[in-house]
Amino acid sequence: MSIQLPPSAAPRSAYPVSALPAALRRLLLYLTKAGTPVSAYVYDGDIAAERARELRAALPDWAAVYYAVKANSFPGVIAALAPHVDGFEVASKAELELALRARPSDGTTPAVVAAGPAKTVPVLTALVREEVEAINAESLLELHRISRIAVAEGVRARVALRVNPARIPVTGSLHMGGVPSQFGVAEPDVPGVLRAAMRLPGLDLVGFHVHAASGNLDADAHAAYLRWCVEWSARTARENGVHLRHIDIGGGIGVAFEGEKPFDVARFGELAAQVEPPQGAKVLLEPGRFLVADCGWYAAEVTDVKTSYGKRFVVLRGGINHFQLPTSWDIVHNMAVLPLERWPEGCPRPAAENTEVTVVGELCTPEDTLLRDVRVDRVRAGDLVVFPYAGSYGWEFAMHRFLGHPVAERHLL
Ligand SMILES: Cc1ncc(COP(=O)(O)O)c(C=O)c1O
Repeated sequence: MSIQLPPSAAPRSAYPVSALPAALRRLLLYLTKAGTPVSAYVYDGDIAAERARELRAALPDWAAVYYAVKANSFPGVIAALAPHVDGFEVASKAELELALRARPSDGTTPAVVAAGPAKTVPVLTALVREEVEAINAESLLELHRISRIAVAEGVRARVALRVNPARIPVTGSLHMGGVPSQFGVAEPDVPGVLRAAMRLPGLDLVGFHVHAASGNLDADAHAAYLRWCVEWSARTARENGVHLRHIDIGGGIGVAFEGEKPFDVARFGELAAQVEPPQGAKVLLEPGRFLVADCGWYAAEVTDVKTSYGKRFVVLRGGINHFQLPTSWDIVHNMAVLPLERWPEGCPRPAAENTEVTVVGELCTPEDTLLRDVRVDRVRAGDLVVFPYAGSYGWEFAMHRFLGHPVAERHLL
């Protein structure tokens, strides 16, 4: 069996401690005073709010930004985003409840759209009862289920058909579609499914949902993808007699790691403004990662520093049970070392200096590796290592229960 480890960071160095905002350092130092070894996420809601403001301001009036709650479901982050987004995208009852709790200051119910394969009857019932803006239906059976529930509840449920396009003819970094998957309805099957959906009494078919991009840093390609979604939806609605009001292009805007060029939000907005959606159709974007990646840090205390056959290992209170992203994504997720002076007198303090280290976690598997071969000036047992860009798919994506160690705490700056 081969193990998927993060790519080697060599010859990179860890970030300097100055890469960590002063307020973050203060909070982390405060957390260490509790006496229990630290493994925690810290989020800055203002940063997430700023990303949302930036994206929304760049987009034309017909476009709306719905935050994909799965990227970071910490209530403080959702609350920080709530005034700056048009709504939320949810994929479970728990996410629906979190979104509904984040009421705008005028007390209205937040706008919600819902996606996700395998939505169960209880999930669909909750969505129908809340009369969410759109349920993105993933299959013909799901359409039938939604209709039956809506009829029983005496309402018509607004539904967008999730489509798995055969091909998205976009140049640049996006060449997606046509891949067999559990998501949505394959494009060739769309006309048949639409015919069936329009006969179901509990449904109001409002449009389409496509989520076919991920981690895209190319603004031109993303604008072309938006254009493609709009034009495809307009044509398909026309050909099949759908009254088109809703075009959801999903998430997929990326965040830049070391050496990468950030997504050009202004350019994306300029290009998007050249698209002309049909009269009365709203275009939704469901960004997750882009809004919250850089609002979060994962910090873990170094429990030991060891040498094994010449290789230095930094062992953490934490690991992929708290922060699984680096092992599931083919990127170097770099860190900074926050030195802590507190150490029991008379106890040897192992350290690694001016050398490469591999940073591993507390689980009984070599897969629990967060960063390999990164150069550090100095890291000692008792210091903290801190991973920036941990705000999206961090805590939510981790395997908290494996081995049963305490779950990582979460704090708001
Ligand atoms: C339906 C849907 N919308 C939006 C998103 C958010 O995607 P991203 O974080 O890449 O923007 C996801 C992510 O899985 C998704 O499944």
